[in-house]
Amino acid sequence: MLSTESRPQLSGKHYFTSSPSTSPNQNLLPLTAKINEKDALEIGGCDVPQLVEQFGSPLYILDEVTLREACRQYRDSFRKYYPGESQVIYASKAWSCFGVCAVVASEDLGFDVVSGGELFTTLNALEQMGWSIADAAAKIYFHGNNKSVQELEYAIATGCTIIVDNWLELQNLVKLGANSPDKPIRIMLRLTPGIECHTHEYIRTGHLDSKFGFDPHQLEGVFTYVSQQPSLNCVGLHAHIGSQIFERQPHQDLGGVLVEWFEKGLTYGLPLTELNIGGGLGIRYTESDDPPSIKEWVKAAAQSVVKACEARQMALPKIIAEPGRSLIGTACITAYTIGSRKVVPEIRTYIAVDGGMSDNPRPITYQSQYRVALANKMSAPYQETVTVAGKHCESGDILIKETPLPETEAGDILVVMDTGAYNYSMASNYNRLPRPAAVFVNNGEANLFLQRETYVDLTRQDCLPTRLLK
Ligand code: LLP
Repeated sequence: MLSTESRPQLSGKHYFTSSPSTSPNQNLLPLTAKINEKDALEIGGCDVPQLVEQFGSPLYILDEVTLREACRQYRDSFRKYYPGESQVIYASKAWSCFGVCAVVASEDLGFDVVSGGELFTTLNALEQMGWSIADAAAKIYFHGNNKSVQELEYAIATGCTIIVDNWLELQNLVKLGANSPDKPIRIMLRLTPGIECHTHEYIRTGHLDSKFGFDPHQLEGVFTYVSQQPSLNCVGLHAHIGSQIFERQPHQDLGGVLVEWFEKGLTYGLPLTELNIGGGLGIRYTESDDPPSIKEWVKAAAQSVVKACEARQMALPKIIAEPGRSLIGTACITAYTIGSRKVVPEIRTYIAVDGGMSDNPRPITYQSQYRVALANKMSAPYQETVTVAGKHCESGDILIKETPLPETEAGDILVVMDTGAYNYSMASNYNRLPRPAAVFVNNGEANLFLQRETYVDLTRQDCLPTRLLK
């Protein structure tokens, strides 16, 4: 073992020493991350402390190159490893907004949406880019375990594919479809495949005790019912087993289970042509996370479907995959300004930042771990171990427990890595904090795509009860 004196002094630089992977999800930092001559972190050719000066903090900084590269790796790997047709769709729950939709659509990906709001956002973004509603809807798949009748009406009006989750939804669709019998509603069926995987229990979905999808024992009844409905055009089957998964086996097993049900569905006369294998590939948040690359994941998932189809001498269906986290998670960092410090002698040193659980609810919700760096002093040696706290009135509002950092002072810029997925989309206004701004960075240019909320935005929906105004 090295003595303390001869142990190499660590600093933010150590994130750059190991050779980065070409697969975005296997890195801690976006692909374009560098340390510049000012010893500052640079993403997409932009100096992070300068971005904070220009746009304020907290600030989500999204690297366009990393996002595009992840889209291309998914798309190209399916073309390479799946001899049939394929379509990658972005699980927009990871981050749904115009800017992200526009970039993802320009890479030829489609969209998974889970609410009327996500559908509206996606359609609106694509319309602004000059797409017709029909072209946009052809690439949108609408999920959800309790879609309202209004949401179903909206989805039907656009013509997107509805991924049906349960009996009530089927019955509602049949009623709504009766209004226009000459135009059957394009649907898929979501199954619960009964596959276990090792991830946080809140983000597991494929095991039998799940609120999503039809159970295997319901399927034959569902197939019979659907095959008798002229107003429904059932084009495929779907399953999703969970999120932040590092193992390949569950996805391989899923291919086999889905193809088996697909074959059975065909015997009921259903016009099945599409097989949606869900998303779920994990990303590296800390050094101990070891996800497969995008290419390895696609290869395993695609080959399992090919093998199962060959065994049954079945024509290859169009394969659809709907990743979220592994497309956008690594592409973004959040920059904060450090403020107060509290030393609890012999126990802990807290440093507080100007955001917290409202812009990143994942640590308090799932005990998620993150890595941090001091963006304005990347080579300053680590000298202390601190706990990074948010500014909310809640003791659990801790972003990172016990992390090494250089000595910091108020005004330093701290970045949290891998915040592209499920951060902005799960953000809140707790304690009436305005949601932060977000910028795309690319080639030395920064473009705002989400404005920082103002106090006026925070009170936009407020109204005084008329009784009090008398
Ligand atoms: N498809 C379906 C039907 C899903 O429910 C999800 C995620 C995905 C695709 C995309 O999964 P991904 O590739 O991103 O793993 N808020 C949690 C994650 C919830 C995931 C919900 N469903 C978190 O912050 O970890």
